Amino acid sequence: EWTDAERKAITSLWSNIDVGEIGPQALVRLLVVFPWTQRYFGTFGDLSTPAAIAGNPKVAQHGKTVMGGLETAVKNLDNVKQAYAKLSVMHSEKLHVDPDNFRVLAECISVVVAAKFGPTVFTAGFQEAWQKFLAVVVSALAKQYH
Ligand code: HEM
Repeated sequence: EWTDAERKAITSLWSNIDVGEIGPQALVRLLVVFPWTQRYFGTFGDLSTPAAIAGNPKVAQHGKTVMGGLETAVKNLDNVKQAYAKLSVMHSEKLHVDPDNFRVLAECISVVVAAKFGPTVFTAGFQEAWQKFLAVVVSALAKQYH
């Protein structure tokens, strides 16, 4: 499923990603650009404006948690569906997250990563491998929905 070049690109990019930086930025972006996603975070306090979202410590903390969750996929590239089986069940049966939101969060993560690293580091090859990686993550998280 993965070429050696893709594996190398994903692990090398991952080793340069600070989950405490990229994660909060990506979740802020999700909540601002796709405001219907705010409905899942009713306990997070003030999400009323982009500035409130960006300054909300619960959003930052959860962004780090979600981004940290990608490590499971990076470490189980040949087995992502199995590695995410429990997390998929949790998002489906407990949190009732519409799985289309996985795709839009992946978009936000890519935008933030591209902005952070720029085109000389996040080259065409890296972007392609990274987006394939996120598509596999999205599909694995949606797997337990029925
Ligand atoms: C919780 C990962 C996408 C909503 C979590 C947790 C992880 C995680 C690791 C904590 C699990 C635990 O406490 O055991 C991910 C990953 C995603 C993703 C890897 C996609 C790349 C989403 C999306 C939404 C969402 C798109 C909603 C729009 C939630 C909520 C919680 C949660 C509401 C519980 C928060 C709380 O009250 O603590 N997710 N998630 N997740 N996730 Fe996700």
